[in-house]
Amino acid sequence: MAVQVVALIGSLRATSSTAALARAVARAAPGQVAVDLTIDLGALPHFSPDLDVAPLPPAVAALRAAIGGADALLVTSPEYAHGMPGTLKNALDWLVSATEPIGKPALLVCGSPGGAAHAHAQLAEVLRTMGLPVIDGGAHVFSRARLDAAGEVADPTLHAHLGAAVAALVAAVAAATA
Ligand SMILES: Cc1cc2nc3c(=O)[nH]c(=O)nc-3n(C[C@H](O)[C@H](O)[C@H](O)COP(=O)(O)O)c2cc1C
Repeated sequence: MAVQVVALIGSLRATSSTAALARAVARAAPGQVAVDLTIDLGALPHFSPDLDVAPLPPAVAALRAAIGGADALLVTSPEYAHGMPGTLKNALDWLVSATEPIGKPALLVCGSPGGAAHAHAQLAEVLRTMGLPVIDGGAHVFSRARLDAAGEVADPTLHAHLGAAVAALVAAVAAATA
């Protein structure tokens, strides 16, 4: 079964470690899984209900269309001030009134030097509130210091953990579409 996954990455940093986590999930995924890593949450305007009307801002329409064509979401995020980054909350606010994400499983992977437990708990609560079943990919003590020279996740234990997490996501998609 082919599975399309859209990645929402909470950091806009060019050398983001949580973007590397998303790429590692894509590498660890089984062959039938395609992960779209191209969504730029920085292109979204600040959410306002006044803008959440037709015609939608182009970046918002593109985000919703990408999710509409996908089976599942991947959310990776650092922790900022014991919460999720504003960039990610802004993106999720744009999706609250959308029908495209509803019922689609979301694999949640957080990483920060302090372990990202607060951001992870906050994101899990928001995603569930939006009607997305959450697959827990963990809150990790993680930062750019843990990346290899190419800026990728090299830790085999973490890679294996992400592989198991994305397998659980595929199982959730299969269960949701059975
Ligand atoms: C504004 C700001 C707030 C932060 N707050 C926290 C925090 O509360 N807890 C924590 O563990 N790390 C915190 N950090 C560190 C980031 O989580 C860490 O640099 C993370 O690896 C960044 O992810 P990235 O490489 O994907 O950009 C903060 C960083 C910034 C810039």
